[in-house]
Amino acid sequence: MVPAWTADGLLERTTKALTRAIRINEFGGPEKLELIKVELGDPGPGQARVDHTAIGINFIDTYFRSGLYPITLPSGLGGEAAGTVVAVGEGVEHVVPGDRVTYAAPPPAQSYSESCVMDAKWLLKLPEDIADDTAAAMTLKGLTAWYLLRRSYEVQPGDWVLLYAAAGGVGLIAGQWAKHLGARVIGVVSTEEKRQLALDHGCEHVLLADNDIVGEVRELTNGNGVPVVYDPVGKDTLYTSLDCLRPRGLLISFGNASGAVDCLPLLELAKRGSLYVTRPVLWNYITNREELEQASRELFELVSNGRLRIEIGQRFALADAADAHRALEARRTKGSTILVP
Ligand SMILES: NC(=O)c1ccc[n+]([C@@H]2O[C@H](COP(=O)([O-])OP(=O)(O)OC[C@H]3O[C@@H](n4cnc5c(N)ncnc54)[C@H](OP(=O)(O)O)[C@@H]3O)[C@@H](O)[C@H]2O)c1
Repeated sequence: MVPAWTADGLLERTTKALTRAIRINEFGGPEKLELIKVELGDPGPGQARVDHTAIGINFIDTYFRSGLYPITLPSGLGGEAAGTVVAVGEGVEHVVPGDRVTYAAPPPAQSYSESCVMDAKWLLKLPEDIADDTAAAMTLKGLTAWYLLRRSYEVQPGDWVLLYAAAGGVGLIAGQWAKHLGARVIGVVSTEEKRQLALDHGCEHVLLADNDIVGEVRELTNGNGVPVVYDPVGKDTLYTSLDCLRPRGLLISFGNASGAVDCLPLLELAKRGSLYVTRPVLWNYITNREELEQASRELFELVSNGRLRIEIGQRFALADAADAHRALEARRTKGSTILVP
């Protein structure tokens, strides 16, 4: 550990042995989240210790909690937070103690905690004009919007885009970003209140989830269908999504909010016009510092210049992480959700 920071308060924090953190000992519902005290070691080579000021909640956290995405237990939870670096290990040069940082780290990460020791390669220095809570609400979700719109499919001006969960954490960011790229965004949401929010964040049209989505999309696009569907809902919407595509269109199935898609006969793609499907994951698009920095630079710039507004729909105390999971899974949240340590 490099005890380079000399300000009294921070020096005291680097030597604190205990931190409060959420743990899961077995897979299951939100009640499996336990707040415990854990001892933090010093950062080893390539690691940093970060004191969190705001923690991002993501739907993916519920997949790890439930066991849909298996991890070794007991485990911490969470991959997104902002805070201050308080110590760094050998070989870490891109951040120093005192830096304000944010991160979107792959699991098993430990961001549901007051403080954590983590792989420093995920840390991004925060521009002065982006507040910590905004950063915790946008880093994982914003980087996701980046790769969906700029890499999985490169959105072109004039493209029609169908986006489910358009009033969610990823959804509000992706809707605005797609519009910024010149796309015409059709959002799908479950309530009138969410509909208005999505309209205020990039969507040109917003359909209610229980409506005839295929019919309305066909009508809006003169019968053609859309070139790309962004579908984080998964199981319930698979065939609706495929039916909204134009020939040779691309389904980007990027989440399992309603359950995982476990079977898709390839002939279904042939029948609908030689369709493409991808099931992407953020961390395959930020595989090294260059990709991560490119993506975050674009994201930070759009937030700093006001093109992307980051909406924190709800905040929970770290100790109430289970309530945050309940709200998210019951579709009661809007925009991003953060935990306050
Ligand atoms: N693959 C990746 O790299 C990646 C990265 C980040 C996130 N994701 C995925 O992106 C999605 C959005 O993540 P987020 O954290 O921003 O969550 P979110 O969108 O804020 O919340 C999920 C939303 O999904 C919608 N939904 C539709 N059917 C649902 C159901 N049966 N149960 C619960 N929700 C349902 C709800 O919106 P309505 O009520 O409006 O329908 C709900 O608000 C998730 O599926 C997540 O796994 C994927």
